[in-house]
Amino acid sequence: MEAMHPDVDHILFTEEEITAMVKRVGAQISEDYKDKDLVLIAVLRGAVVFMGDLMRAIDCPLAIDFMAVSSYGDGAKSSGIVRIVKDLDIDIKGRDVLIVEDILDSGITLKYLIKNLSSRQPASIEVATFLWKDIEGKQAAINPKYVCTHCPDDFVVGYGLDYAQRYRNLPYVGVLKPEVYS
Ligand code: PRP
Ligand code: MN
Ligand code: MG
Repeated sequence: MEAMHPDVDHILFTEEEITAMVKRVGAQISEDYKDKDLVLIAVLRGAVVFMGDLMRAIDCPLAIDFMAVSSYGDGAKSSGIVRIVKDLDIDIKGRDVLIVEDILDSGITLKYLIKNLSSRQPASIEVATFLWKDIEGKQAAINPKYVCTHCPDDFVVGYGLDYAQRYRNLPYVGVLKPEVYS
């Protein structure tokens, strides 16, 4: 196993486990979208690592684009306000949109994105999230169609997920030591 970063308390999902999960979800998407006009929209910046792996696990024609939104900034808590930092370059009208996210936590980001993208009249809109923190009583009303794995209510980093822009490059998902962010 890879050496653990000193700020990480323990590893939740190893590189090998992640590879298997992403392959499984990629195969599902390949089956569901084989006759569709699939556009993957990754949410910068956290989703870039998942996007790179997921698109290569999908075996049907697709286009990709990116949106940048941010609600957490450099803090450990969501501000509750979603900002569009970069909009799409392509027109999604009549196309089958799949939003690619690294984590669904409070759901504020995805709720905003689904509403915003729906107004552009795609043929369909679904969500693929790598992690889902489906904590009871905490979740905004969002039901992602594709989920790699559920995740405990810890501060998780790696595989695209940051704290203050760090740790995105860790190849595994780990729980950050509380003293790092408190
Ligand atoms: C994080 C994460 C998700 C979102 C999930 O993004 O990447 O996009 O928060 O949280 P929510 O469900 O509570 O809205 P962040 O705003 O930190 O930007 P980043 O992707 O650039 O890290
Ligand atoms: Mn994000
Ligand atoms: Mg972040």
